[in-house]
Amino acid sequence: MIKPVNKNPLQWVLPHVLNLKPYSSARDEFSGLADVYLDANENAYGSAGLPKDAKQWHRYPDPHALEIRHLVGKMVGLDAAQVFVGNGSDEAIDLLMRVFCTPGQHKIVVMPPTYGMYLVSAGINNLEVLSVPLRPDFQIDMPALAAVLSSKPMVRLLFVCSPNNPTGNLMDGRDLKDICNIFEGIVVVDEAYIDFTDRQNAISLLAEHPNLVVIRTMSKAWGLAALRIGMAFASADMVAILQKVKPPYNLSGPAQALALEALTTGQDAKNEVVRRLNHQHLLLREQLVQLPIVAEVYPTDANFVLVRFGSDIIASELYVRLLGQGVVVRDRSSQSGCANCLRITIGTEAENQKLIVALLSYQV
Ligand SMILES: Cc1ncc(COP(=O)(O)O)c(C=O)c1O
Repeated sequence: MIKPVNKNPLQWVLPHVLNLKPYSSARDEFSGLADVYLDANENAYGSAGLPKDAKQWHRYPDPHALEIRHLVGKMVGLDAAQVFVGNGSDEAIDLLMRVFCTPGQHKIVVMPPTYGMYLVSAGINNLEVLSVPLRPDFQIDMPALAAVLSSKPMVRLLFVCSPNNPTGNLMDGRDLKDICNIFEGIVVVDEAYIDFTDRQNAISLLAEHPNLVVIRTMSKAWGLAALRIGMAFASADMVAILQKVKPPYNLSGPAQALALEALTTGQDAKNEVVRRLNHQHLLLREQLVQLPIVAEVYPTDANFVLVRFGSDIIASELYVRLLGQGVVVRDRSSQSGCANCLRITIGTEAENQKLIVALLSYQV
């Protein structure tokens, strides 16, 4: 039985962040309607180069992206105060490090093979990274993790990716719960791909675990990667801290406008696209497993598959061959536990067929 530790995660907010007086923008100081806006040094004549009847972008956007936070929160049954939206979920990852970790002093835990930005953000913030590799079945090695957490007191953040990139599997929900219980620091569950599965998610853990942050994105199932909109769900107190340290206008006006349109009118369309992609996923998997060069297609709950090739194939050479045929996939063969593996995003039916034709032409 795992004994829960007594936690107040906000005790880890760095003192200078706690004491920080956030920037107060013109939109903070006046947010109502007026006839004449002469407060923000905007350009009253409109946007250069855009036709006068086109939508203009000369006014600063809502610094708190409140409408988006409200709609995103509604989707998962949370109040807007529990939703942070950032310039991609990568922004939330970076801000969490800056809020909770002193450079050169605190550490983070990652579980490779996993999403590479945790490592890069840690590098930027000068944080040591402790790696606890996933088991061969790509689940969390709980005894190894518990050993690291009990022997390294300076760990402040722990990243779990579920469904994991590049392996595509969901992490065992009981492990996620246990980690929230045993770890005194902040547990970040990255659910960038969660919209492709309805088997499990970590939102329901938020109510019981004030040290949990769940990260999601509009870059995948919503098909809005270019808008750069990521979300972090957490306690209202944690979100208030993130709101305090983010740049004042981290979500651009066009991004907010288009995301609002998508969130207001696009739920059904998103669900339909997810259904189509998941169907293509099944078809592609069926074809891949039949290819003689394929050793294993790992089961995934995401819009990609991880494919391990047979020992007579060198995945990195195959990657280059595919490039030559106009098909770009991701070579993951150097990642721990992913020897000879390529990660393949599910495309349209035509794209997937092009991939299969290219793989069929590959001679050992
Ligand atoms: C696991 C995971 N988290 C986060 C991201 C970043 O998403 P965003 O586009 O919102 O920055 C990605 C992007 O590929 C990802 O795979």
